[in-house]
Amino acid sequence: MWPPPPPAAPPPAAPQQQHTPAAVRNRGGTSPASTTMIKVVVLMAAVAVVAVAAMLPAACSGLGSEATQPEQVHIALAGLDAKGNPNGMAVSWQTHTRTATSVVRYGLNSTALTMHATGNCSSYYATFDHHVVLHNLLPKTRYYYQVGDATGGWSKVFSFVSAPLSSRDMPINFAVWGDLGVVNGDSTLAFLNNIKDNIDLMWHAGDIAYADDTFIHLTCATKFCYEDIWNEYMNLMQPLASGMPYMTTPGNHEAECHSPACLLSSERREALRNFTAYNHRFRMPSPESGGVLNMWHSFNYGPVHFVSLDTETAFPLAPEEHMYVLPCGGFGDMLTWLEQDLIEANKHRDERPWILAASHHPMYFGGNINEPFQKAIEDLFHKYNVDMYFAGHKHSYERDYPVYKGVPQPTYYNPNSTVYITVGGAGNDEMEGDQVERNNQNDVITRADESDMWQSNPNEGVAVKKDNGYYGIGVVHVLNSTALHFEYYRTTLQEKYDEVYLFKNH
Ligand SMILES: [Fe+2]
Repeated sequence: MWPPPPPAAPPPAAPQQQHTPAAVRNRGGTSPASTTMIKVVVLMAAVAVVAVAAMLPAACSGLGSEATQPEQVHIALAGLDAKGNPNGMAVSWQTHTRTATSVVRYGLNSTALTMHATGNCSSYYATFDHHVVLHNLLPKTRYYYQVGDATGGWSKVFSFVSAPLSSRDMPINFAVWGDLGVVNGDSTLAFLNNIKDNIDLMWHAGDIAYADDTFIHLTCATKFCYEDIWNEYMNLMQPLASGMPYMTTPGNHEAECHSPACLLSSERREALRNFTAYNHRFRMPSPESGGVLNMWHSFNYGPVHFVSLDTETAFPLAPEEHMYVLPCGGFGDMLTWLEQDLIEANKHRDERPWILAASHHPMYFGGNINEPFQKAIEDLFHKYNVDMYFAGHKHSYERDYPVYKGVPQPTYYNPNSTVYITVGGAGNDEMEGDQVERNNQNDVITRADESDMWQSNPNEGVAVKKDNGYYGIGVVHVLNSTALHFEYYRTTLQEKYDEVYLFKNH
């Protein structure tokens, strides 16, 4: 059912006051300028102590019985039947030490987990990532499962609903956002937990956890927190991501650990560079779609072909191949893969009429055009009729007209250009505090000047609506083969602040 019922409890207070992790609890919201100053000061302090920090034991070297207890459980679509439906599920988790096996016990009844599947375990630094793919699942069926090892211990029992068989007019719902971290992520996590029974999957367009920012936090100046924040984020996501597919794309914050403690340690520098943590922690359906690691891949769900792209490394002048601290990239030829993927998707447009794409960097934002990305991708989107593209990176919201080569089509009725949406304000430590304050009765008492924050600026060309200064994410309802309903929610207030219907005669 949609919309979900309103929350029983009052909306949460300002997110920086809730559940902020111990390691960063004293930060709160900071302005971009003060964040930059903090980075400089803390960087200097960190350099002074890095010789000591580099000699500290690696994080997460858990001991005792908890060391093999599964945590950070999350799932992703996997498998592929003869008609292109994902008929499996990848189940992933971490342990702090290696276990003899990586096992998922599962079944159709929570008290009878009569089936089991085994997978693999690997370690890129200190913890161990387990991935097990469940194959040949019944469509649209609730499965119960637990993960672990007979000696190391088992998780509690979780459940998910397997993917449906594709159907042209099947309605589906999903959440989409970019740039969600531990710090300032509380309101978006609360919103997602409120709607989780009403959405089929989550699509995170890069910048996941913000582990690479941890060294700017004062309490991490002498403590190596990179892996701690990754672990904390994935544990915060477990209640959501253990129950529905959590699909991802890479963002710049997944590229590497670039704290002084990393750069001055050859072990850390090599172990935590070039998207290594990101590629170990998730298991996206690249084997099924011909993609590469978790960098780019595609999957089908209901009436939609989803395409997850890499805007960090995979085309000429991609930002992380040339501009980051350590060299990145070398993952392969995404552009050739993308064209083949879109050709194949268009062969099946009768049963999956919608093609939606996502990645981290926007092509259009704030009146600017990301020209290297545009040069590499836009003609493919246009030629193969990609309906909508979602991005993050910019920590705000912007809905653009359908646009091609910078020329907008001012209509959402059967446009022949791609609609571009940026939803990069999910909440992270690089965002200024939300523009919401409350009195003792939990009433909103001040808000940003909406005439500034909510406008259409003709000078910016393609932008229709924009929103700055609030935490927010997108919710998409694919209603049938011709209608898609996009909504933008401010998550602190759990209120809808924009929506649009896209109609396409597929
Ligand atoms: Fe970013």
